[in-house]
Amino acid sequence: MSEFSADRKRIKCLFTAVEADPLVKVGGLGDVAFSLPNALRNLHPDEIGGHEIDVRLILPCYSTACHSVSESSRKTHFDVMTGLGVIPTTIFMTEIKNMPVYLISSDLIPQNTSVYTSDSYKDGLKFLFFSQAALQLAITPGWDMDVLHANDWHTAIIPYLLKGGKRTGIYPKKMKSILTIHNLPFMGAGTQTALRDLGIPFSNDRKLPAWARRLPLPMGLSASDRIVAVSPSYASEIQTPEYGNDLNDFLNSRSDRLSGIINGLDTELWDPSTDHELNVQFSTQTLPDRHHNKTVLQKELALEENSDIPLLAFIGRMDQQKGIDLIIDALRLLTKQSWQAVLLGTGNTVLEKQALQLQTDFPDKVRAIIKFDSHLSRRIYGGADILMMPSRYEPCGLAQMIAMRYGCVPLAHATGGLIDTITDYGQNIDATGFLFEDCTATELAKTIKQALNVYKIKPEWIKLQRNGMKKDFSWHQSALSYANLYINI
Ligand code: GLC
Repeated sequence: MSEFSADRKRIKCLFTAVEADPLVKVGGLGDVAFSLPNALRNLHPDEIGGHEIDVRLILPCYSTACHSVSESSRKTHFDVMTGLGVIPTTIFMTEIKNMPVYLISSDLIPQNTSVYTSDSYKDGLKFLFFSQAALQLAITPGWDMDVLHANDWHTAIIPYLLKGGKRTGIYPKKMKSILTIHNLPFMGAGTQTALRDLGIPFSNDRKLPAWARRLPLPMGLSASDRIVAVSPSYASEIQTPEYGNDLNDFLNSRSDRLSGIINGLDTELWDPSTDHELNVQFSTQTLPDRHHNKTVLQKELALEENSDIPLLAFIGRMDQQKGIDLIIDALRLLTKQSWQAVLLGTGNTVLEKQALQLQTDFPDKVRAIIKFDSHLSRRIYGGADILMMPSRYEPCGLAQMIAMRYGCVPLAHATGGLIDTITDYGQNIDATGFLFEDCTATELAKTIKQALNVYKIKPEWIKLQRNGMKKDFSWHQSALSYANLYINI
């Protein structure tokens, strides 16, 4: 493999994030922050030019995480220097699936609160302090990290502080940084006071717009050795005015450092042939069995039990980004057609109410279930026919990959990771779903109508399902791409 340099060695990487399954998981970052380091550790040296990637995960120690850290886990104490003075800090060490996991605990990282709260000062303080502590640990004698991998605004200050410290000689020049962007619009707004309190100076990078020099994400983007977006399409999109959140020109100026690597899917966790949540487990060979799951689901939802009626689904956060409003409007345009729909998730209360209203108006067709229910979501993936994802933007997205693996055909806005994972129906024999360009309710309705027509042509539909189920979404390929970055940085 020529892209991996011949200089064989063990690469030590500290992977920093503020949520990681199974310890603390709120959203998509949580899925990635365990699966990716785990996949990196599982790469065989022969695949990466004889190198070995020694990656360790580090998280803030919130109460849920603490609970699962066994009593026997080792702990040590150290002091972290901040603008607020010396902060006594404890670090717990444990292992999950053979991966060393470190949890940082201090008074600045409160217990028993949500990971993300509406108090941006407090969130700023805990995440920025966590970043300072992780960085201090990385240079502790014996640790000697080669790569610090930060994720989103919460830990973006690590590359920033690292670069500053290299300039003044506190940090070793050989230590490199990578910052992965999971969601560009979240830049750490409202954390200026926390930055100041912790003694972190604002950026003076003239390439950054003035407003961005005091926000953790742009500060990190300006200093990081490499920037990764979670899909190649999103990496291009964020360099355009439409998706760039006013950082497009800046990101474009760093395009030689910016690349896109698509996230993978935990194919053990998401496997319809072993998923006990399903009434009937199935694979491509036993796909015809899948219809039992659909009728059981229709029964559970108190909808007509008829496998000929196409069952549409939405699973996710009910907010503007995910386009649930477009689904509600589009379905209202299609009430004369035969279909059923289940909308599962929580989020914006106005949108939740609109989803419930749709159910009230069309009780024979619609179920709006306003809760987070991972068990039900599995039964929906394994029984529904079409997963609707009209996300206004989608850096990568996970639901479309799960849906394809479970024989549920995705229908999505052609954006970000949705473009990179779904092959549009058309004349394409490898098609796995439906993509539409303009993110409007009319376009969505038009595409749903097209999908409902294809649904009637059974061999066509089965081909779509099989193509999706056969796709390899495992983390292996993504881990190879990240390893390549670590090695050649
Ligand atoms: C964010 C993005 C989502 C991505 C996830 C993991 O939640 O919105 O598209 O899949 O991060 O990278």
